[in-house]
Amino acid sequence: MTNNQKLIRWVHEWAELCQPEKVYWCDGSQEENDRLMAEMVASGMAVKLDDKKRPNSYYFQSDPSDVARVENRTYICSEKQEDAGPTNNWAAPAEMKATLKALFKGAMKGRTMYVIPFSMGPLGSDIAHIGVEITDSPYVVVNMRVMTRMGKAVLDVLGNGDFVPCVHSNGAPLQPGQKDVKWPCAPIEQKYITHFPETKEIIAYGSGYGGNALLGKKCFALRIASAMAKEEGWLAEHMLIMGITNPKGVKKYIAAAFPSACGKTNLAMLIPTIPGWKVETVGDDIAWMKFGKDGQLYAINPEAGFFGVAPGTSFDTNPNAMLSAASGTIFTNTGLTPDGDIWWEGIGTEAPEGTITWTNEVYDKESGKPAAHPNARFTAPAFQCPCIDPAWEDPKGVPISAILFGGRRPSTIPLVYEAMSWAHGTFMGSVVGSEVTAAAIGLKAGVRRDPFAMLPFIGYNMADYFGHWLTIGKNAPKPEALPKIFNVNWFRKDKNGKWLWPGYGDNIRVLAWIFGRCEGTAAATETAIGFVPTVDGIDISGLDVTKDDIAELVKVDKALWKEELELIKEQQASLGDRYPKELKLQVEQLEVRLG
Ligand code: GTP
Ligand code: SPV
Ligand code: MN
Repeated sequence: MTNNQKLIRWVHEWAELCQPEKVYWCDGSQEENDRLMAEMVASGMAVKLDDKKRPNSYYFQSDPSDVARVENRTYICSEKQEDAGPTNNWAAPAEMKATLKALFKGAMKGRTMYVIPFSMGPLGSDIAHIGVEITDSPYVVVNMRVMTRMGKAVLDVLGNGDFVPCVHSNGAPLQPGQKDVKWPCAPIEQKYITHFPETKEIIAYGSGYGGNALLGKKCFALRIASAMAKEEGWLAEHMLIMGITNPKGVKKYIAAAFPSACGKTNLAMLIPTIPGWKVETVGDDIAWMKFGKDGQLYAINPEAGFFGVAPGTSFDTNPNAMLSAASGTIFTNTGLTPDGDIWWEGIGTEAPEGTITWTNEVYDKESGKPAAHPNARFTAPAFQCPCIDPAWEDPKGVPISAILFGGRRPSTIPLVYEAMSWAHGTFMGSVVGSEVTAAAIGLKAGVRRDPFAMLPFIGYNMADYFGHWLTIGKNAPKPEALPKIFNVNWFRKDKNGKWLWPGYGDNIRVLAWIFGRCEGTAAATETAIGFVPTVDGIDISGLDVTKDDIAELVKVDKALWKEELELIKEQQASLGDRYPKELKLQVEQLEVRLG
């Protein structure tokens, strides 16, 4: 299928080490997909869902130990430890490679080695990058087919060019005669998700789930791409991209970074609850942004599908996601109904009698054990999204007018506020905090700092990453065309733990204010932390929210902010002497403004 000597040699070397039964080059065809699915159904790894209810869709249950990203087993292997920085696990490249060599020796025995050529970004686009993933997991192959542009067409575009080598094994070789399990994987202490930012390589061992195994996603499009972006002067970010059209027909695009399971998919596809507004989706998880010839910042979605959180998704909260996943979709760790469909908590219906849980037991509501794992996911093709943006595959990307940061913050952080400058916006991104979610294994409950929603995804020193954001602002070809920066928080709670803001489709009311700020029409009040809406600034018509509620939601509580400032200073100290002095200045200025 290819004459690319580097590629052929690399596949050969890993085949020698991993000793698979055979090596198979994926062409990306429907026929190939159907065949792999049929094989997985036959081996008991997959269940084909009812073709009338959920055409061309399949159901998987993972091993109970392998349900999300493993941040404590994820490594950035730069030559110098300080280049990985204090927030990443680090190992010297040569040492890590020796460890991995030993683990990969014979790791694919009794299995097929699949070679998956894939493109992050539209095939052949200038912004796109090609990777090749080697894996012994057919589940990874069928997921990569949805999440990326994958197969023979990619090899044709690659020609003799360069690619990012990505190696993956579940780490569960089969001895002769050994019966396979439903979800092969290695124990947690043997899992390694490793990145070599200087040589642009990825090697992952022991997990078959999501970002640990679909290497185009977090490993390539964020960790390795962030290192490329730093070298080349662009941005690789954990951001959704959406188009918003106002009632006058004016359209703007925005990008928004929220930590894992904090509402990117939901915002990207929202259905506005105020008349005349329209939202269209470019991407729901990752944005690559570069300056165009006109000096504007343009964004592309490097992915081709959605790997979305299932629980909580319903025809009420996110109909567009439900419709995206109506067919040709892979469901992992949801519940399975007796009539061959899927079910999860918050899907909007009662679980049918006899529903099977993600741990393969009969669902019993009384037991308190959920049918779906909280990090259960659907893998759905982006083109199936009813509100997919007409420009979602435009190789030059879409021009970005505003960048939003946010997280789950029950108190302190207002519903929305606007930065006073790019440097101040960079500071806002650098201090994002959020209550942790189920998207990663083994984290302590509570609020943690998750700068730019990138804490687990920056492929180098976080302080240098902050510096890179400042540099992007300083080097902007047309400073007045830089996106405006905002912080949002849909997750404020009252004393009784109830949401203060309805969220979901009503978030358009906040986006409308942001839109107005970009147009120079919406009013704002200057506060110590930035510009907040006036009490009349947010349209609450038809909502069960009062002006007093809005006043509470946009209030800047100086006492709480002084507590926040202490946490910010702790973070600053923890990042060491590479922490940019411009951001130190921002901290000092905030302290002065708080009085
Ligand atoms: P990753 O795919 O992990 O990067 O996550 P994501 O940011 O795309 O998260 P997603 O949109 O899937 O949201 C996950 C959770 O947040 C779900 O449980 C949603 O129900 C909840 N959620 C999303 N938007 C809102 C909102 O506006 N308000 C409230 N209260 N909850 C929300
Ligand atoms: C996230 O955790 O931010 C995700 C899911 O988008 S995963 O691809 O598993 O990282
Ligand atoms: Mn994500």
